[in-house]
Amino acid sequence: MNPTAVQRDPLLELREEFPSLEHTLHFASHTLGAMPRGVDEALRRYAHTWRVRGIRAWEEGWFAMPTEVGNLLAGLFNGEPGSVAMFENVTIAEAVGLSAIDFRAPRNRLVCGAEDFPSLLYLYEGLTRRGAELVRVPSRQDRRMDERDIVAAIDERTAVVALSHVMFRSSQVLDLAPIAARARQAGALTMIDAYQAIGTVPLDVRAVGIDLLAGGSVKWLCGGPGAGYLYVSPRVAPKLEPALTGWMAHENPFAFDSGPTRRDAGARRFWTGTPGIPAFAAAREGYAIVARAGISAIREKSLRLTGRMIELADEMGFKVGSPREPERRGGTVVLDIPDAERVCHALLAEDVLLDFRPGVGLRLAPHFYTRDDEVEEVMRRVRAHLNREAS
Ligand SMILES: Cc1ncc(COP(=O)(O)O)c(C=O)c1O
Repeated sequence: MNPTAVQRDPLLELREEFPSLEHTLHFASHTLGAMPRGVDEALRRYAHTWRVRGIRAWEEGWFAMPTEVGNLLAGLFNGEPGSVAMFENVTIAEAVGLSAIDFRAPRNRLVCGAEDFPSLLYLYEGLTRRGAELVRVPSRQDRRMDERDIVAAIDERTAVVALSHVMFRSSQVLDLAPIAARARQAGALTMIDAYQAIGTVPLDVRAVGIDLLAGGSVKWLCGGPGAGYLYVSPRVAPKLEPALTGWMAHENPFAFDSGPTRRDAGARRFWTGTPGIPAFAAAREGYAIVARAGISAIREKSLRLTGRMIELADEMGFKVGSPREPERRGGTVVLDIPDAERVCHALLAEDVLLDFRPGVGLRLAPHFYTRDDEVEEVMRRVRAHLNREAS
């Protein structure tokens, strides 16, 4: 380890918040971020509250918690306070938002991308049973999506443009500005899956003019499973009436009104049923640390470390499957190597955390808590295993 490099990296002060880093090389934050030490205490507090306060817990914090954690999240992408609703995962968050759209001809098209996450592609496919016509924009060479192809696919028949901001396989960053501008001009909504972006790539939803955005907490936000979220711009929220809804979306859920639904004026209009409190209590710890680290500092470090990994990959003769241009590169480096699955399993057995995806190879992600020497070490280990596989 180079001690001067450590001194110059204030983000490493947050390392002590992640006990598992003492015994693992953590390069899996694109799929499961390290657990903050505060999660143990947060879950203990949750259980204590349930046991001791019982039903009073709702009034004493649980009911307000989704709004509070939603506001923490909104701060990470410049969303307005009160603009974020919490769900179990991204798929449900998007399903709720899209259920507010009437896919009725002549405006019944949903424009999506071939490199979007499969779960969302399945959801969009399901919407064809509700009248949606899918326009799936193909990728070009090496799975690259091109903004010009997407812009060209949007017209007055488009109801919604639903796309990933950062592609899960290649880690390509899509420039959302021209897409959002074209969607607005055509009268279509935008629904952005920002799961691979928020927590590592800066995004300002107000500056770009995004209508709806979904994300989750498992990855870059170090928040664990069960905490998906949906941002809806206050420009469009009052006009949206989700068909996938529930009693918690009512302006007064505890009136137990049998209908017709009178929706809450704020983000609660997008809620469904009882919120998943323990998941949000855990996730809050991750959001707080990411906010403390600061997105621009995280991005700067991510570009430095992923840049170094690409340099090492070139030296070691590995093909790089993720973009090389900094502005096009998310937080993950993809190594398109032979036998990626076997190398991945061998490394997992050594407490090196990473993953692989069919068709692209190994995915490795440094994060704000990664030391420079760990980058050198993980690349050395990949090479050692590859050599072993080959011999
Ligand atoms: C870009 C992207 N979207 C969505 C998902 C999955 O969303 P969820 O399981 O929260 O529905 C993933 C990965 O798990 C992803 O990388």
